[in-house]
Amino acid sequence: MNVPKHVAIIMDGNGRWATNQGKKRSEGHLEGSKTLEKLALHAIDMGVEILSVYAFSTDNFKRDFEEVNYLMNLIVKYFNTKFEKINKKGIKVVVSGRKSNLRTDVLKAIEDIEEKTKNNTKGILNICFNYGGQEEIIDGAIKLAKDINNGLDITNFKREDFYKYLYHDLPPIDLLIRTGGEQRVSNFMLYQMSYSEFYFTNTYFPDFDKSEFNKALFMYENRDRRFGGIVDKESK
Ligand code: IPE
Ligand code: IPE
Ligand code: MG
Repeated sequence: MNVPKHVAIIMDGNGRWATNQGKKRSEGHLEGSKTLEKLALHAIDMGVEILSVYAFSTDNFKRDFEEVNYLMNLIVKYFNTKFEKINKKGIKVVVSGRKSNLRTDVLKAIEDIEEKTKNNTKGILNICFNYGGQEEIIDGAIKLAKDINNGLDITNFKREDFYKYLYHDLPPIDLLIRTGGEQRVSNFMLYQMSYSEFYFTNTYFPDFDKSEFNKALFMYENRDRRFGGIVDKESK
């Protein structure tokens, strides 16, 4: 099977999942966090090396204080307690996003989980939290500008060279999944998705289980990736 090396998921639809069942939106986020834990373990079993997930965007601060607060508490709780299985499995957790306007307990939880799992080598779970794709490019450009000021020669600077200026030096995304029915990227990993295959599903994230994930993998297997070139199977 041709398994994508780097899979990214825009975990959308938690709120609607809850509302449809007469529950509070926060219950959708809680259920979504359980789904994430299961999927992270499953993705590695399927041979995926890197799983990037969109957990909280810089624009999600526009939501009610109550919801933002719930999501902040949830990440702290999850990193402190529920990530045992992920650590045991040998998965390294990294967090991408701006740190500037996060609470100190959130920053501490992020630091701790990154530290605890930093020597794990079985796979990487990249959690995008307080994350924006354009912000990541801007922050990278600022780091590059500093290096240029310090004498870096950019005569032959290539697009591949920019990855190390991003939050984590991760490879391009092979497969991008968005749950919840919307067909847009909402400022997710813009630099890394230049040649990603897209998979959209109406399934709300809390219901996006292993078999739903496998459907996306099967679809990916049949995609013909050309990267701007020509793959003429008939004439070969
Ligand atoms: C995605 O679910 C999770 C976050 C953005 C934190 P939503 O909360 O966006 O759920 P919907 O789109 O309102 O259903
Ligand atoms: C994208 O979902 C962000 C996350 C999944 C964390 P949103 O629900 O915030 O995106 P829009 O508002 O529908 O574009
Ligand atoms: Mg949404």
